[in-house]
Amino acid sequence: MPEVGFREWLAIGRAITDGHLMRYAGKAHLTSRFERELGEAIGTRHVLTVNSGTSALIAALAAAGIGPGDEVLVPAYTWMATAAAPIHVGAVPVLVDINETLTIDPEDILRKITPHTRAIMPVHMVNAPCDMEAIMSIAREHGLVVIEDACQAVGVRYRNSYCGTIGDLGAFSFNRMKNMNIGEGGAVLTNDEGYFIRARSFHDLGATMRGHLDNLSVPSFVGMNLKSNEIEGAMLRVQLKKLFPQMRRMQERRAMLAGILSESAGFRVTPHNDPDTAVSLSIIAPTREEAIALTKRRGIHNRLLDSSKHVYTNWEPILAKRTFHPKMNPWDWAKREINYTADMCQRTLDILERTCVVTLGLQYPAPLMRMVARKLVS
Ligand SMILES: Cc1ncc(COP(=O)(O)O)c(C=O)c1O
Repeated sequence: MPEVGFREWLAIGRAITDGHLMRYAGKAHLTSRFERELGEAIGTRHVLTVNSGTSALIAALAAAGIGPGDEVLVPAYTWMATAAAPIHVGAVPVLVDINETLTIDPEDILRKITPHTRAIMPVHMVNAPCDMEAIMSIAREHGLVVIEDACQAVGVRYRNSYCGTIGDLGAFSFNRMKNMNIGEGGAVLTNDEGYFIRARSFHDLGATMRGHLDNLSVPSFVGMNLKSNEIEGAMLRVQLKKLFPQMRRMQERRAMLAGILSESAGFRVTPHNDPDTAVSLSIIAPTREEAIALTKRRGIHNRLLDSSKHVYTNWEPILAKRTFHPKMNPWDWAKREINYTADMCQRTLDILERTCVVTLGLQYPAPLMRMVARKLVS
């Protein structure tokens, strides 16, 4: 993630001096300018800044009209927010296995589609893009909405597009772990004007006085307050300037390290859905024991299985189908009984217990990381 420093501090100072902290107040313009700049940079017509990636996912689902009785396909390996978001609009998540790319497996999507499936939420995990070509083709064939969770893949490319801009809607997170970091924040992306207008109205409580629904021929509907503010807009404009240079450095570093690791028979780099633009690097060991041994070595992160709420077996309230109020329970509104068990996505668990992310070490000079990688394979 890029550091937050002096340039952000200056930008915040200017925003305060402007005197408009609320994005829809007076002459406030920083958040709107950021939305235009991000849209132009990644090639999407509409960007709506919100207060988190989770909010972006919920607003995207609401915009697409997903609700009670609907099933939404989500991967079994993702931050719990992806599976929680459908629940907040009254739908239920249906878990889909990943494959070795660490992203949702198109073949398992086909197995999990039922007459009640309305949407797929592919998640570009750890900066690794999903197989969007296969996913879009399945979605078109079955009439499903695609909401890309690109919270972990801001600025990541898939073929000639950016993650988050390929499906019907996309979601970014700008929390402190992400490629653009303002502490907390997010954005909804779409090329569809109707979805954009609905998302914008939803994120501002359904407030009609700001003209959010002016171009839409539907009555206003109740939303939530998921708005961002001008301080965030100011920081995001600075972070956007840092994004692409950082992604280029990640791509170079990844190519260098993957090259060294592939020289050794002992390491298998996980397959990638667009190796030419890859910015993430993981290795998959033949056995669980070998993966555990790998984590003791410098430059290797924990096994993905040990990444807490990114693994479905740790989504305790979802597995238990527990909501804040027993009568607001989407599983009661589903068209069939949906249950979850700890062993239901065994293939995902098998991959996660053998896979470790390799650090790109952007904070260190390239020759040092080359040395670390050479030591790993020696
Ligand atoms: C894959 C994924 N989806 C959704 C989210 C939710 O983003 P936020 O923390 O900004 O709400 C995250 C954040 O960690 C994430 O990694």
